[in-house]
Amino acid sequence: MSATEITDALRAQVLDELPELGQINNENLRAKAIDAWTLALARSSFGSIKEIAPAGNPDVNEVKRGDQTDHLRGVTRLAIGIATEMQAAYPELAIDMDTIVAGGLLHDVGKAWEFDPENRKRWKSDQRRYGKPSIRHPGYGAHICLTVGLPEEIAHIAMAHSGEGELLVRSLECMIVHQADYTFWNTLLAGGMLKPETVQAAKRNYVSDIPI
Ligand SMILES: [Fe+2]
Repeated sequence: MSATEITDALRAQVLDELPELGQINNENLRAKAIDAWTLALARSSFGSIKEIAPAGNPDVNEVKRGDQTDHLRGVTRLAIGIATEMQAAYPELAIDMDTIVAGGLLHDVGKAWEFDPENRKRWKSDQRRYGKPSIRHPGYGAHICLTVGLPEEIAHIAMAHSGEGELLVRSLECMIVHQADYTFWNTLLAGGMLKPETVQAAKRNYVSDIPI
C-alpha cells in the first residue's frame, strides 16, 4: 500500500474508536489490525468507523441508535466472553484469544466497502455491469486483511463469519465470532432495538438465515 493511504493520524483515530485493539497482546498482530481498519477507511469515502451505520447490511437490521463501532466492540466483547467461559469448561479447546479479539474487531472491516455511498450509487446505477454489491463485506474484508499482511486465520474470520462461511468449514475462533455476531443481532431484534423498516418481514424472530 502507498504511504499516503495509511497515516499515523488515522491509525491513532482507529485505536481511539476501537479501544479493544489494545487487548491484542501480540504487537505485530495489533499493528496490522490497526492498519487493516485504517486502510479500509482510507480507500473509502468514510472518514471514521463511526460514520458507518450500525447495520448488518446497508439498510438491513439497523440499530435504532449508535454506529458501527458499537457493533464491532459488542461482538468482540461477546466473543471474548464465549471464549473465556468455554475455555474454562474445556481447557483443551486452547482458544487463541488474540485471534478472537482481532477477528471480532475486523470481522466487518469490509463494511467500509459495502456501505460506502459512492459504491452503492455505482452498483445501483449499473447492476448489470458491477453486480449489487460487486463484493460483499466478507470478501472485501478478507482482501483488506491479506493486503496489510494479517495472518490467514484473521482473513478467514472476515471471509467466513457470515453466509460465506456456510460454503466451508469454520475455524474454532471463526465459529465463536460468528455466534457472537448472530447473538448481537438477534438480541437486539428480540429487544425491539432494530428499526422495524430495516427488518425483513419474514425474519421477525430470527436473523440467522440472513447473510450478515
Ligand atoms: Fe458483524
